[in-house]
Amino acid sequence: MHYNAFSIEIDSNMQYISSHSQVYARERRVPQQISILVGSMTGTADLAAEEIKGVLAATGAQVEILQMDRLDASVFARPGRFIICTSTYGQGDVPDNARAFFDGLQRERPGLGQVRYGVFGLGDSTYFDTFNNGGKQFDELLTELGARRIGQRMEHNASGDVVAEDAAVAWAKEWAELACPLAAAAE
Ligand SMILES: Cc1cc2nc3c(=O)[nH]c(=O)nc-3n(C[C@H](O)[C@H](O)[C@H](O)COP(=O)(O)O)c2cc1C
Repeated sequence: MHYNAFSIEIDSNMQYISSHSQVYARERRVPQQISILVGSMTGTADLAAEEIKGVLAATGAQVEILQMDRLDASVFARPGRFIICTSTYGQGDVPDNARAFFDGLQRERPGLGQVRYGVFGLGDSTYFDTFNNGGKQFDELLTELGARRIGQRMEHNASGDVVAEDAAVAWAKEWAELACPLAAAAE
């Protein structure tokens, strides 16, 4: 079919094609890309990230897990959405393998206006004053740099009743509906 048309991207999932007075919305054929950036000391965040990946991949998204110690700000040039999946250590710090990445973002202050992200944070409420500070610090920094969060920041509690893997599945299902609604609806 020939359209004497122009197309504008409103969301990476949807393309609106204006043809004279008619407007069509169609689902993109290319699945959404999602990068899960992991900060962890003892592997719990890795387990959560695997569960999140499973849920999102089932919606048709292309999902990759990246360890933060291999990253710098250039990761945000990738297409698609991002998930920060990080625990908290020390006195409310990000884990060791997230330190250089976090400090680099803070120092370089790249403009991240195009970035959309979610946060799955891990912590333990016995650390009352610094509960889930790792995820919180990333959330605040990304917001300062112009990025926009999708959905609520998850605060998993290692002293709670739900293990991180189960919490990750539940959170990822909700997040998928917000971040890739068409794919989730088609499930
Ligand atoms: C030495 C140590 C320090 C911790 N400090 C904090 C903290 O300040 N705030 C918090 O919410 N959780 C804290 N935690 C709890 C961890 O964030 C939590 O157990 C998490 O699930 C670990 O995830 P990981 O295995 O991916 O690192 C600490 C744990 C340890 C062992």
